[in-house]
Amino acid sequence: MPVILAIESSCDDTAAAVISNGQILSNIVSSQTIHASFGGVVPELAARQHQGNIVPIVELALQKAEINKSQLDAVAFTQGPGLLGALMVGCSFAKSFAFASKIPLIGVNHLHAHLLSHWIEKPIPEFPFLCLLVSGGHTLIVKMENAMDYQIIGRTKDDAVGEAFDKAAKILGIPYPGGPLVDKLSQGGNSKKFVFPMPQRKELDFSFSGLKTAFLYFIQDNLKTNQNFIEENISDICASYQEHLVRYLLRNLEETALQTEIKNIGISGGVSANSCLREALTEMATQNGWKIYIPSLEYCTDNAAMIAITAHFKYLHGDFVDMSVAPFARFDL
Ligand code: KG4
Ligand code: ZN
Repeated sequence: MPVILAIESSCDDTAAAVISNGQILSNIVSSQTIHASFGGVVPELAARQHQGNIVPIVELALQKAEINKSQLDAVAFTQGPGLLGALMVGCSFAKSFAFASKIPLIGVNHLHAHLLSHWIEKPIPEFPFLCLLVSGGHTLIVKMENAMDYQIIGRTKDDAVGEAFDKAAKILGIPYPGGPLVDKLSQGGNSKKFVFPMPQRKELDFSFSGLKTAFLYFIQDNLKTNQNFIEENISDICASYQEHLVRYLLRNLEETALQTEIKNIGISGGVSANSCLREALTEMATQNGWKIYIPSLEYCTDNAAMIAITAHFKYLHGDFVDMSVAPFARFDL
């Protein structure tokens, strides 16, 4: 107890998972590829793709978990933040499912779910716990007192770090989402070849928009003298830019850890899949005597297992929503 079906549809991944007594039984994700040529997610297309995907993905998740509908105790969905049309598909589906099956409905904050991705696998974090949440839409440093009680300590004032990856990738002609490809192209590249401006050490908040502009000018200037600059240097450009973003993220995280005296540290969200960030955090942890938590790759980028674990905690707290529930494009943590 309880057995919960969870649905995620906030952006361009249609996902469903089944959890039983806190254990993930299945975790199915269908990533939409239709957006690649547009350089970013097209909201209307994303919503339509979710509509087509949601029934087969849910069926697959139930099948893989060997659970039939009558065994479910609740159905959960991502309530926000995200693209409204995309969220609507998951929300409407979950409502109809709950109504037809006469089971309660649980609305989950997508960001809370990224934080609780650390509770899917063992070991789970010790408290107090600092989590650097890095995704396509958010960059936050969150202090957690327990799974349901947390406080934001640092946040980005403009772009998210995922956007900093994706927008630089777009400038380089790399299809969306650029982050994973920048990571791949960085392998074997010289990360010390190019230097980018580091925002001043003044606060725990982040800002990535200046960096994005600096990157654009850097590429434009070099293309003026060498038309093949990108092709000839792609690995070194990606490695240098990636390492720069990672150093900036970890500089603020280290500062927060010092100020709060917290030594249990983790990362979550799509960008936590980045190999340079995972390695650099591991090194920094050794230097600082931190105990660190890094989710498995499948739980970094958007997935429904993290919605399911959050729903599990909400179920135990009796935290349900009724049929009048609506999704929110903006939804504070
Ligand atoms: O958490 P997520 O899947 O969706 C949001 O909630 O936004 O994060 C997606 C972001 C995208 O910006 C993507 O480029 C980035 O995570 N990302 C990566 C890597 N894998 C995904 N960025 C850098 N390196 C990666 N390996
Ligand atoms: Zn996400």
